[in-house]
Amino acid sequence: MSGRLAIDGGKPVRKKPFPPRIMLDGREKTAALRVIEKSMTGPDAIDMFGQGPEVEAYRAEFAQRIGTRFAAAVSSGTAAVHTALAALRLEPGAEVITSPITDPGTVTPIVMINCIPIFADVDYATLNVTADTIAAKVTKHTKAIIPVHLAGQPCDMAPIMKLARKHKLTVIEDCAQAHGSTYHGKCVGTIGDLGTFSLMGSKHMTSGGQGGMVTTNNQALFWNAKRFADRGKPFNSRSKSNIMLGLNYRMSELEAAIGRPQLKKLPGRIRKRRTLLKKLQKALSPLQAHRPWTIIDETETNPWFIPLHYDRSRMTVSKAKCAAAIGAEGIRIAAHYVTPMYRHTWLRQRASYGKSQYPWNGAGKRKIAYEGSCPEAERAYADYMTLYFHEGFEDDYIQDIAAALAKVEGAYLKR
Ligand SMILES: Cc1ncc(COP(=O)(O)O)c(C=O)c1O
Repeated sequence: MSGRLAIDGGKPVRKKPFPPRIMLDGREKTAALRVIEKSMTGPDAIDMFGQGPEVEAYRAEFAQRIGTRFAAAVSSGTAAVHTALAALRLEPGAEVITSPITDPGTVTPIVMINCIPIFADVDYATLNVTADTIAAKVTKHTKAIIPVHLAGQPCDMAPIMKLARKHKLTVIEDCAQAHGSTYHGKCVGTIGDLGTFSLMGSKHMTSGGQGGMVTTNNQALFWNAKRFADRGKPFNSRSKSNIMLGLNYRMSELEAAIGRPQLKKLPGRIRKRRTLLKKLQKALSPLQAHRPWTIIDETETNPWFIPLHYDRSRMTVSKAKCAAAIGAEGIRIAAHYVTPMYRHTWLRQRASYGKSQYPWNGAGKRKIAYEGSCPEAERAYADYMTLYFHEGFEDDYIQDIAAALAKVEGAYLKR
């Protein structure tokens, strides 16, 4: 498509609004009312803010759907990562390796358990950490790894698990963006020692705004997770008093009731997102300077957003300018995903507890140099855009994305 760009005053490719994402329907309404009505009536009244049969049912159904023996329901994806880490009972100052391209919710819990985040570089094509990039950061202080399945694409877990077993490291898969994605036929969240999920409203499924889940096959880790998320209560123990330092990260009945029908909707959402991804890949294939990220073999990715590679060498304008031009054509896009985590102010300044800079300044401290430690992540930050995506898209929006990108590319491509 040619014509004057909308950013320069031309007619936009798309005038229709961004397709709405309707997550809830009568099923969640009925479920929420069930909890409230039970709380309003006679002998069966339950505390709608406490944990009861809905939470118990939800976590059992979640575990069954994902394919683990246990699941612990918590209040957010960040709480899930914190709970999973706390379940490991690591010594202060231990190092935990994760990705620099992720949400802060992966990283802040590492410091909250007094451990030191270490960033493994990502593969530029997939934006995920790999066994090789992790291996380059393993030291005698490393105790755990948190691979993040970014944008819904599973990390290449087989070599990561092999590396972890070799060095006796625990693996927590951060599945906040990858509900139901599979690797070699297994759902993410079942491959490592623990899996963590966010059930926040923009995710593949929600428990009504905020929520999280920790999955595991390891009974001891499950009980530790349960205890940590409920102020250290002595679950599955003979103790009469609380046995562990913990927080209140419990999920409520109302959230669990909303989450249960969402779980049933997940397979349909995955099918729709995967179909849309295929159509998008095809529609964008004629482009010369824009292409979706690479997806590795033997995975089924449930895409959460589309990382879109921008080949600056072929274009006359910056990525930011190009993203603004695409946005003006009526397509929802951002110039970047998140800044690599170690460039965030609090991490650069080691701003943790008061002025202590703990745990970086703790006993046996070793100098950790973050700046520039993940060059491929820096390059990826510079070269990828974030194309918003959800299962409510129809073919017309896919066609509009392709038309808008072709129009903008046509205007800015080097001749
Ligand atoms: C990869 C990743 N980890 C953790 C989180 C934190 O989840 P929550 O926002 O539910 O706390 C997110 C949220 O977007 C995420 O994308």
